[in-house]
Amino acid sequence: MQQNPLAIQRRNLRHLFRQRRRSLTPEQQQQAEIQICEKALAFINQHQAQNIALYLAVDGEIGTATLIERLWAEGKEVCLPVLHPFSLGHLLFLRYRPDSVLQANKFNINEPKLDIRDVIPSHKLDIIFTPLVAFDQAGNRLGMGGGFYDRTLCDWQCKSFLPIGLAHQCQQLERLPAESWDIPLAHILSA
Ligand SMILES: Nc1ncnc2c1ncn2[C@@H]1O[C@H](COP(=O)(O)OP(=O)(O)OP(=O)(O)O)[C@@H](O)[C@H]1O
Ligand SMILES: [Mg+2]
Repeated sequence: MQQNPLAIQRRNLRHLFRQRRRSLTPEQQQQAEIQICEKALAFINQHQAQNIALYLAVDGEIGTATLIERLWAEGKEVCLPVLHPFSLGHLLFLRYRPDSVLQANKFNINEPKLDIRDVIPSHKLDIIFTPLVAFDQAGNRLGMGGGFYDRTLCDWQCKSFLPIGLAHQCQQLERLPAESWDIPLAHILSA
């Protein structure tokens, strides 16, 4: 299939920046995870957020395990994205607790086992922290290419939650070539 120049540029950037974050050493990853935890906690407290969507890091994404442990210890509600069982390309957010049962989805990413009682509707969320592949100063976000977060974050200004990216500093670039459907984030925290 013929691809337009913008699509080719985004595909090349995805490849480059995924390689970049995967090349970080375990020590660099560990240090970044600790630093991003402190930054995210400060942001969460500043916004008095209680219901917080996070993600489990894969493919060199900045780690969230330390942050999740701290949030549990503080009595915050942590949620994780789950692929919607019927609505293709959409996400649900499920409560994530220390005893939650996880299972791998079709992208081999762990997610809580779907149980309707654990679904937290997006209007109950205060912050959705997103992973990303690359970002720029204006809050533009390049993800893994499924459009999942673009669909989730659509019209977020009219909703209860703030979409905040979490990233390694090496994922920032001068200006990201955005598509019409891309939803810029409110803010990006990096370490
Ligand atoms: N709101 C939307 N409605 C329908 N399709 C959409 C929407 N947003 C994005 N898409 C589709 O999703 C596909 C991938 O989008 P994009 O390249 O922006 O992914 P991404 O933002 O990198 O991925 P992700 O958010 O999953 O990390 C595109 O083909 C686009 O048409
Ligand atoms: Mg997008």
